[in-house]
Amino acid sequence: MSKLDNYCLRLGNIEYRPIMIGGMGVDISTPAMVVEGARLGGIAHLSDALICSISDRYFGTTLAKAKFNKYKDFSGEANKLFAQFDLTEVKDSVKRLVEYTINQKSNVGGVFINIMEKLTMNNPRETLRARMWGALDGGIDGLSLSAGLHLGSLDLIEDHPRFRDAKIGIIVSSVRALKLFLKRAARLNRNPDYVVVEGPLAGGHLGFGIDDWASFDLKTIFREVVDFLKKEGLKIPVIPAGGIFTGTEGVEFIKEGAAAVQVATRFTITKESGLPDKVKQEYFKAHEEDIEVNMVSPTGYPMRMLKSSPCIGAGGKPCCEQYGYVLDKDGNCKYIDSYKAEVARNPEKISVKDKTCLCTQMEFYKTWTCGHMAYRLKDTTNLLADGSYQQPTTEDVFNDYLNSQDNQIILPKTE
Ligand SMILES: Cc1cc2nc3c(=O)[nH]c(=O)nc-3n(C[C@H](O)[C@H](O)[C@H](O)COP(=O)(O)O)c2cc1C
Repeated sequence: MSKLDNYCLRLGNIEYRPIMIGGMGVDISTPAMVVEGARLGGIAHLSDALICSISDRYFGTTLAKAKFNKYKDFSGEANKLFAQFDLTEVKDSVKRLVEYTINQKSNVGGVFINIMEKLTMNNPRETLRARMWGALDGGIDGLSLSAGLHLGSLDLIEDHPRFRDAKIGIIVSSVRALKLFLKRAARLNRNPDYVVVEGPLAGGHLGFGIDDWASFDLKTIFREVVDFLKKEGLKIPVIPAGGIFTGTEGVEFIKEGAAAVQVATRFTITKESGLPDKVKQEYFKAHEEDIEVNMVSPTGYPMRMLKSSPCIGAGGKPCCEQYGYVLDKDGNCKYIDSYKAEVARNPEKISVKDKTCLCTQMEFYKTWTCGHMAYRLKDTTNLLADGSYQQPTTEDVFNDYLNSQDNQIILPKTE
């Protein structure tokens, strides 16, 4: 009977184990998790979310504070276009994180990073360029372009010396999005090295509408992408993502033409995950009805999370002088509007229901985003005597994906 361990993912002349750990911001897919994923021969992603704060957390820089001090006197202004990021700092922050992770790599596995287009950072084009250059300068093995169509992204790095040597992949949720990307890529004669097809059961933001996400399914979109590439004569590895909970499910995709699988939710509760221990227990305890797709993200995209996420209905004052990662090109964020409306409505007790301040709520792990299958996490580990669930290691989960047969899950050794 086949298992994922019988297959490999070949990108260029490198062979990986056919498991990609998806990027999980903010610092949920930590350098420690990524180093483990690579050590085990797979590919694992850092996330580029809140990169200056991550630099402060890991490297003792004080970028968030410095940005706040620079702009705090203007905090009364409604439009935040003034609160620009220092592009050199953005680039250097990504570079630091990548170098730090790559330097710990001990195997041929891959250290990749998700680069999100919708992380508009008050200057979408230039901050995107800075993040991609920082990652390439830092020696990243691969860039996965996510959360957006990325129609102009390759142009931003075509002059980088590593443009044709680092792996570049695109994450899509439809053939249409892939076609658009390929058209632009053809102009530079730089096809992606892989395509991740992310379905509607994934964690984080979704590439579907709030009203119709449930009418799509990963397998159908995946087959459409595989058929399209075949018709075009393009040999680009296709990697499905979103709701793949066991290695057996992964093998089913491989038999239909997948080169590997991308998975994330099962790693949220590992020892190496950046989520606080208490939050990991919330993930374990979740039942299916405790998970929802909502519109509280100010990006305008649907996002899946636990209904008990403290970010829902919180009323914190926006702090774009310090953060501002979701500010659009005109210096606006939908949370600011919702916050102001709520202050006018009920200044005594501010609870913003329709949007959340994604920057602060993600930095402090109050947005408990997860894939749809998170309700099965409790079945992947041991219940301990004190009523809590044991955190498996990244290695436990990785090896379970590799060796799973008949949809069985191999529980971690009891501690
Ligand atoms: C906690 C969490 C955080 C995520 N954060 C990001 C992110 O920062 N950027 C991104 O492109 N995708 C993000 N994702 C999506 C994953 O990288 C991945 O493609 C997807 O969740 C895979 O499906 P699964 O979680 O059902 O295995 C996140 C997913 C989770 C579960």
